[in-house]
Amino acid sequence: MRSHEQRTASAVENSEANPNGAVTGLGHVLEPGVIDVSHGTILYLDDVTVSFDGFRALDGLTLSIAPGELRCVIGPNGAGKTTMMDVVSGKTRPDSGSAFLGQTIDLTRLREPAIATAGIGRKFQKPTVFENHPVWENLELAMKADKRWLASLRARLDRAAQAKLEATLALIDLESAAYRLAGELSHGQKQRLEIGMLLMQQPALLLLDEPAAGMTDQETMELARLLDALRGTCSMMVVEHDMAFVAALAGETGMVTVMADGRVLAEGTLDAVKRDERVIVSYLGR
Ligand SMILES: Nc1ncnc2c1ncn2[C@@H]1O[C@H](COP(=O)(O)OP(=O)(O)O)[C@@H](O)[C@H]1O
Ligand SMILES: [Mg+2]
Repeated sequence: MRSHEQRTASAVENSEANPNGAVTGLGHVLEPGVIDVSHGTILYLDDVTVSFDGFRALDGLTLSIAPGELRCVIGPNGAGKTTMMDVVSGKTRPDSGSAFLGQTIDLTRLREPAIATAGIGRKFQKPTVFENHPVWENLELAMKADKRWLASLRARLDRAAQAKLEATLALIDLESAAYRLAGELSHGQKQRLEIGMLLMQQPALLLLDEPAAGMTDQETMELARLLDALRGTCSMMVVEHDMAFVAALAGETGMVTVMADGRVLAEGTLDAVKRDERVIVSYLGR
């Protein structure tokens, strides 16, 4: 990979000159971190290896995601899917290989908070919301964690921030629950709230590790609708086992990555990977 001049996320306030930035159309006027996607990738992993006591959880993983793409990643337990997200979010350092956000942001050199600031939001399996605070306050607190909003929040919630909060509440379909305590929400609602909290930080890339786990079928389809609505506002990588959910997200043309043994086993449309003999043997069964 060519290494251009290193540019990290910059905080440019009140810039409307960013029509291609993350989370446009949701009422915010702040520019997200500058990520150079001129070569057509938002995330680029090359030959990544991670070993735990000699066991290779990732073993030459190479994967790239295009800007705006919603990539589903499937594969058997132990394939290394969570470890891959750990590498991307900075929780785990790879033993070898590279991981870049855009062309220039070397994820293997950044710590977790810096990676979050650079534009990667990660949703863990268990929802982590502030149970004793109302829904809207959860979103406000998440927004305050993003320094790009600080100026507008210094005094009180100004109009742009308020508009962003309301748009996000609508997007996660929790308008009618805005004043309820987060702890009173259903599991599916909490998961949507947590995604809303990540959106307040204007991520360029969202990582979701088994977001539909533990959800009812109806909650799962609501989540699919939400992620579908986020298309074009941020890139997403979704690890999931629920094949109905994957089918809803990938549609007929979306690219699906199948991981096994710490590397990519197959990649293609869901239809194509489901017909792949290696995928049938190692994951889907007959
Ligand atoms: N911190 C760790 N220490 C030791 N082994 C680990 C650790 N994290 C993951 N592993 C092992 O690495 C492999 C891949 O795990 P993981 O990335 O969680 O797979 P997946 O998410 O695809 O189920 C598994 O065999 C797991 O036991
Ligand atoms: Mg996992």
